[in-house]
Amino acid sequence: MAQMHNNLSPAEGIWSLRRLPHMDEAQFSQWQTLLEHRTGITLSAERRSFLETNLGIRMREIGCNSYQAYYEKIVSGPDAIREWSTLVDRLTVQETRFFRDPDAFRLVADYVLTRPREQLRKRPLEGWSVGCSSGEEPYTLAMVLNECMSQLELQPLFGITGSDISKPAIDKARDGLFNPRKLMGMDEELKTRYFRPAERNTVEIVKSIRERVCFTRLNVLDLDQAPMHGMNIIFCQNLLIYFRRWRRREIVRRLAERLAPGGLLVLGQGELTDWQPPGLQRLPSEHVLAWIKRQTDEE
Ligand SMILES: C[S@@+](CC[C@H](N)C(=O)[O-])C[C@H]1O[C@@H](n2cnc3c(N)ncnc32)[C@H](O)[C@@H]1O
Repeated sequence: MAQMHNNLSPAEGIWSLRRLPHMDEAQFSQWQTLLEHRTGITLSAERRSFLETNLGIRMREIGCNSYQAYYEKIVSGPDAIREWSTLVDRLTVQETRFFRDPDAFRLVADYVLTRPREQLRKRPLEGWSVGCSSGEEPYTLAMVLNECMSQLELQPLFGITGSDISKPAIDKARDGLFNPRKLMGMDEELKTRYFRPAERNTVEIVKSIRERVCFTRLNVLDLDQAPMHGMNIIFCQNLLIYFRRWRRREIVRRLAERLAPGGLLVLGQGELTDWQPPGLQRLPSEHVLAWIKRQTDEE
């Protein structure tokens, strides 16, 4: 019986069998504003049913029966912070996979392979995957860097940080266990080198890669609080597409500040148009949107 699930009272259980309450225009606008204010994500009118469904599921789980009551819980309830953290995970698109954008990773490899060898030998390369979801992107970056170092016959001197607003996504990334579906399209040799079969039909990233990658929870709207500086590679794909144009620019400007001179910034195709970020030099690639940070005396 539905009443038996999720610790709902019988009355709440009956409610859970009913249809979702209708969300009126003012309520939709209130949720849109809250989500954008706190995460940067804009929800178009076409995504109202997505919002209704996901709020509805969560409201049923906790036995809350109106959008307004749930809104109050999120903005001023005693457990507001924790509840928001659960909700934000439900309202963000977390789709990802290993080597999702092969051209972009090829560009990263070219970038590393053409750096002065002496620099690579002496200073660890620092990479950052912003909006890393469950970790496939930062682990891919680690594999690419590892391949480059091995090709150059250098010690694997590099570290990658993955950051995301979603705590469950970060927890999953830290576990390093993946459904083999996430490896679809990957080179067989790389699969064998970097994954091992693990529990319940999952695959596990090998330790040598895992220990080069760390994860942290970070809202990209709070970049001021991020301790990352002097990054050699910043990879930020499929996050800014949910943001308004002015905000994308603002975030790119801030990410650029976190790059080391000569560092590489990679976004998703089409995520930033008609604007040249100051201090960055666009790389001439047809398929990848990427820039190099100018050395200060070039500015
Ligand atoms: C579609 S995934 C992209 C994953 C990966 N970058 C890729 O391209 O495969 C978007 C990720 O951005 C995260 N996200 C959304 N808003 C965010 C914010 N304000 N700060 C940090 N991460 C955010 C989501 O939690 C989600 O994991």
